[in-house]
Amino acid sequence: MKTLIVYYSYEGNTKIIAETIGKSIEADIMELKPEKEMTSKGFMKYVWGGRAAVMKKKPVLVPLTHKMEDYDLIIFGTPVWAGTFAPTFNTLFSEHSLKNKKVALFCCHAGGMGKVFSNFEKSLEGNNIIDKIDIVEPITQKLEEKLDRAKEWGQSLILKANA
Ligand SMILES: Cc1cc2nc3c(=O)[nH]c(=O)nc-3n(C[C@H](O)[C@H](O)[C@H](O)COP(=O)(O)O)c2cc1C
Repeated sequence: MKTLIVYYSYEGNTKIIAETIGKSIEADIMELKPEKEMTSKGFMKYVWGGRAAVMKKKPVLVPLTHKMEDYDLIIFGTPVWAGTFAPTFNTLFSEHSLKNKKVALFCCHAGGMGKVFSNFEKSLEGNNIIDKIDIVEPITQKLEEKLDRAKEWGQSLILKANA
């Protein structure tokens, strides 16, 4: 099962989960990076990032490092921004259409997932979403426990995808 993890992370939570899953199942990993990353910290990051998410902005991405078409299972990971996925995924889905793939979803958030998964489902119509998981603030809340959960989830995905 050729597996690719595609993620975006602003402050490292989604990144550490993506890397943990990646190691546990020997998946390839592709980070989505905007050419111009937001620099805001504190309250202003919610203003800039939240607005970009609500307005469905499509930031220009640095060139992708992997081809999603080459994989059987693709795992998408995002922080929740204003109740949805980060804007880098708007760019990805508008530039790369994906069909007939096995797909799994994870998100990191602070307690309000909003419509992140239903919005992914809309953008990924025509694919088979085999599972999804949400993780609350892994870096600051019970990191080891959450990394264990991420590892187990990754392994369970491989079993499901092979079934
Ligand atoms: C612009 C912005 C908007 C956010 N909106 C939400 C939200 O709607 N619901 C929520 O639970 N957390 C929200 N958060 C918190 C992040 O989802 C959470 O801290 C996540 O773990 C960050 O992942 P990262 O470290 O990979 O960037 C928001 C954070 C930012 C920067």
